[in-house]
Amino acid sequence: MAFKTIIVEIDDHVALIKLNRPEALNALNQALLDELARAITEADRNEKVRCIVLTGSEKAFAAGADIKEMAEKTFVDAFSSDFFGPQTEVIERCRKPIIAAVAGYALGGGCELAMMCDFIIAADTAKFGQPEINLGVIAGIGGTQRLTRLVGKSKSMEMHLTGRFMDAEEAERSGLVSRVVPAKKLMDEAMAAAQKITEKSMLATMSAKEAINRSYETTLSEGLLHERRLFHALFATEDQKEGMSAFLEKREAQFRDK
Ligand code: CAA
Repeated sequence: MAFKTIIVEIDDHVALIKLNRPEALNALNQALLDELARAITEADRNEKVRCIVLTGSEKAFAAGADIKEMAEKTFVDAFSSDFFGPQTEVIERCRKPIIAAVAGYALGGGCELAMMCDFIIAADTAKFGQPEINLGVIAGIGGTQRLTRLVGKSKSMEMHLTGRFMDAEEAERSGLVSRVVPAKKLMDEAMAAAQKITEKSMLATMSAKEAINRSYETTLSEGLLHERRLFHALFATEDQKEGMSAFLEKREAQFRDK
């Protein structure tokens, strides 16, 4: 079934998903989130896809949850449908790497969506914020949890309580994004990072993602043990033999995900 609010292109093992509601600065309405969850599920299942890049437009990655759509909602509507729960859980469950390529506004749910990805590459035009407080609510898809873990309590608290935006330079300095690039180069840089990832063993890639995400869920000793066991497990793969032989033979490794 074709998508209406996103554009999906699969090229060279990378699924590029572009949020496409320019009339609303890519505000996250239910139709968009349903389509995004479907596109990510399909990419996760598609053997050809080895990395996903999620992006918006030059002006906005996403300006948050769709305020027009939610303005009249009641508690009963929100609670009974688990508003935002089902789609965000699908995105969080994706085992393949997801890179967020962010230009322009990444506000509210837009900032939270970027933080759900595995890392963020930001254009120098990017602006991050959690301005829900101005609407009489708070972040609802992870802002208070993920931003706090990424930038620390003080900055997260200030952003959530005042609604102020953070520019790209501050976002890099405070650990929200992995790096900042000129806006014109954003997609080239994000696709190049994705391309690099597609050349690795998927078994190692998925293990690294799982181990790093575990660090947010568990104690240090449990996380270290989980990492060590995954490391041990990778010795059962042909890709480990290939990767290490290739190094010793001074040639490029040819991984086969086995
Ligand atoms: N929801 C719905 N529509 C939105 C939107 C949103 N979050 N953000 C922008 N739009 C719409 C505007 O209503 C406008 O539509 P019309 O032309 O039909 O009026 C269009 O997009 C362009 O927006 P602006 O005219 O406002 O553009 P601007 O350049 O003057 O300002 C902006 C840009 C600063 C991002 C401003 O649009 C803005 O403040 N947007 C809202 C940001 C926000 O509060 N986000 C949090 C939402 S709540 C949330 O996300 C909850 C959660 O955690 C899950």
